[in-house]
Amino acid sequence: MENNNWWKRAVIYQVYPRSFADSNGDGIGDLPGVISKLDYLKTLGIDAIWLSPVYRSPQYDNGYDISDYRDVDPLFGTLADLDRLIAEAKTRGIRIILDLVLNHTSDEHPWFLSAKQSRESPYHDYYIWRDAAPDEADGQAADFGAGAWQYVPEIRQSYYYQFSHRQPDLNWANPKVRQELYDMIRWWTSRGVGGYRLDVVDHLGKDPFAGYTINGPHLHEFVREMSAAAFPAPLVTVGEAWSATIERAKRYANPDGSELSMVFQFEHLLLDKAEGGEKWDLAPLPVNKLKQVFARWQTLLHGCGWNSLFWENHDLPRIVSRWGDEGEFREASAKMLAVLLFGMEGTPYLYEGQELGMTNRRFALDDYQDVETLDMIRTRRAKGYSDAEILRSAYGRSRDNARTPMQWDASENAGFTTGTPWLPVNDNYKEINAAEQIGRGDSVFECYRKLIALRKTYPVFEEGAFTLLEPENDALFAYKRETEAEALLVVCNFTSKEIENPVPAEGMTLLLGTYGDDQSETLRPYEARLYRKGD
Ligand code: GLC
Ligand code: CA
Repeated sequence: MENNNWWKRAVIYQVYPRSFADSNGDGIGDLPGVISKLDYLKTLGIDAIWLSPVYRSPQYDNGYDISDYRDVDPLFGTLADLDRLIAEAKTRGIRIILDLVLNHTSDEHPWFLSAKQSRESPYHDYYIWRDAAPDEADGQAADFGAGAWQYVPEIRQSYYYQFSHRQPDLNWANPKVRQELYDMIRWWTSRGVGGYRLDVVDHLGKDPFAGYTINGPHLHEFVREMSAAAFPAPLVTVGEAWSATIERAKRYANPDGSELSMVFQFEHLLLDKAEGGEKWDLAPLPVNKLKQVFARWQTLLHGCGWNSLFWENHDLPRIVSRWGDEGEFREASAKMLAVLLFGMEGTPYLYEGQELGMTNRRFALDDYQDVETLDMIRTRRAKGYSDAEILRSAYGRSRDNARTPMQWDASENAGFTTGTPWLPVNDNYKEINAAEQIGRGDSVFECYRKLIALRKTYPVFEEGAFTLLEPENDALFAYKRETEAEALLVVCNFTSKEIENPVPAEGMTLLLGTYGDDQSETLRPYEARLYRKGD
């Protein structure tokens, strides 16, 4: 019998296809490229791949703007390639998780092309319209993530969009829209897909007329309806929910399975943002707050929900550049952050290149390609910010940081493509690449590989109850996990200095130490140790 909760023991790896592996030299990663790297992923030990969107799309938002939900964009290959990926992954025990962008379509989706032609179109009501022509649509309003109306002169109405004007929001209040989407999901499931990541799930119940862009009154009702219609076990489902609180996460991830398996919540990743500012307004990380946030999610969801564990994705900066050290302690800090996260309760996610400790790339302002970054550059210039300030924000937070090509080896373009990569490779690829790290015992890759294997060996990783240790010590992040039969202890030095280790590990065995078998009472810079007790 298949275990319906397989995903509680699993590690999921996110592939951003555009930047993963290019098979035909056009500079853009593709599905045959992903297939060619399945053995690499098998070596790492992951259980499932979350594939960012490969559907047909004008690629205005790199595929998060879909024009055909049931086909593959020629940029990435064919539907047959995707079927082959599903089959080839399956032979290696790896499931494929597709990315469902259900909040909006591309403005080139046939539904929208029809909808904007006439108020009488059967698809008109698939989108959200209002009659007045808004004056604010003069190009000055933010064009990503802020929510606005775009005027269509032909029918003298404006449509609502939450992200860019090229991503009109679907009208979830219309049951036909919902049924159409559930049908599409069932169609993919019948092709052998193992689960789904739901883009911006907290926007689905929106009602801009009543002032709701997120967490609308019908949100959970819709999620339950969708789950009953399209998410039978053992599919895994994870919703992206920037606004999720613990209370909401308990509903989304209700163990009764009525909604989703889990959500991505972002509370920990919002801590280094200046208060009242936007994501671009950087602030130092308060380590003690980070500890509190994790401790709350770990303890309050225990037994009544399920966590996802992640540092990175295609929208976030590289974690080493963010909370680790890009210089002397790059590998040490990458491994510390790995141990810290993988010792917790929940399903860990790895974003491509994170297993190598890849870092942010320093672009020139003109080299940024991401719509969100371009919008920031435009609006901040108009507000009088200096280029130096804008660059600092982009360097710290641009989504392009995570989107530079995967660094496979030290050959030209890091082995990603034989052509010209769509986004420049990070200059450090000769030093940081997979070929150099596989098999080198103290590499970041081998550290992740060990962690993945350990999680599968000992039930305490799945079941142990979390207790934060030394909560006031802002140099140290330490916690234990306990079941009746086993205990884990995780001790991490969150600084570039040597510090005293105040946490005794008596009677425990060192499972993994990032400075080898060192058990001294001093923790070296960014050192992490993982201990266990039990049979
Ligand atoms: C999600 C995606 C992001 C995309 C946005 C709009 O946040 O992760 O990449 O731009 O939704 O679809
Ligand atoms: Ca290609």
